[in-house]
Amino acid sequence: MPKVENIVILTGAGISAESGLETFRAADGLWENHRVEDVATPEAFARDPLLVQRFYDMRRVAIMETLPNTAHEALARLDAEWQGGLLLVTQNIDDLHERAGAMYAGDPRVLHMHGEGLSAWCTACDARTRWTTSLADGPPCPVCGANALRPDIVWFGEMPYRMDEIYAALREADLFVSIGTSGAVYPAAGFVREARECGARTLELNLESSHGSAWFHETRLGPASLLVPAWVDEMLGMAR
Ligand code: APR
Repeated sequence: MPKVENIVILTGAGISAESGLETFRAADGLWENHRVEDVATPEAFARDPLLVQRFYDMRRVAIMETLPNTAHEALARLDAEWQGGLLLVTQNIDDLHERAGAMYAGDPRVLHMHGEGLSAWCTACDARTRWTTSLADGPPCPVCGANALRPDIVWFGEMPYRMDEIYAALREADLFVSIGTSGAVYPAAGFVREARECGARTLELNLESSHGSAWFHETRLGPASLLVPAWVDEMLGMAR
């Protein structure tokens, strides 16, 4: 493999599946018994805010009851030891990447493009506040006092966060690695193509072939808890 300096990693629900968090595209097409359009769109929130707040209250509890697995831990090790550029873009709203390694705290190398379950966004003053309790009770924003808090989640039809930074990193990447994502949701599903067209090698680690498998130079199939630590060992061994 040519020399690798800059790595961009994209993670999806599959990396947290073995921690016990449900993936989105299960066989029944439902997410925790709800149709996505009933809980994860701005229209759903406008129509039935209480249902949506309760749904994300439950997600918040589930996140806090969950622990990182060996795949999150391996990526934390890579983050700590990799001397080159590294950007970890996650579509996940859990904080398992951060909790897998203390070195992640406040680390700009983890980017939550679809928002964070443990964050509340005030639509009145735009403040974001770490949130671990209920939003369904209608608590006031701790910054401005308005009753305008919503989950800090990028819903369908909304613009994912920090896209400029992500595309800049993809253009500089020597290696793009996709882990535990079905490649069904854009723009994340298009990252592999962008990276490859800009010269990166592309690797997929997933339980099954994804929608975008044809764009990857290499696909390794299996559970993230096994594939990711093995790949990280390879990368760190190569760097020594
Ligand atoms: N190890 C590796 N991969 C796994 C594992 C595992 N243990 N378990 C499941 N997978 C794979 C599945 O085979 C599937 O391809 O993870 C993928 C999960 O796909 P999705 O459920 O579609 O999740 P994701 O790709 O993260 O969804 C993207 O869609 O609903 C929106 O905003 C939401 O961020 C989410 C986005």
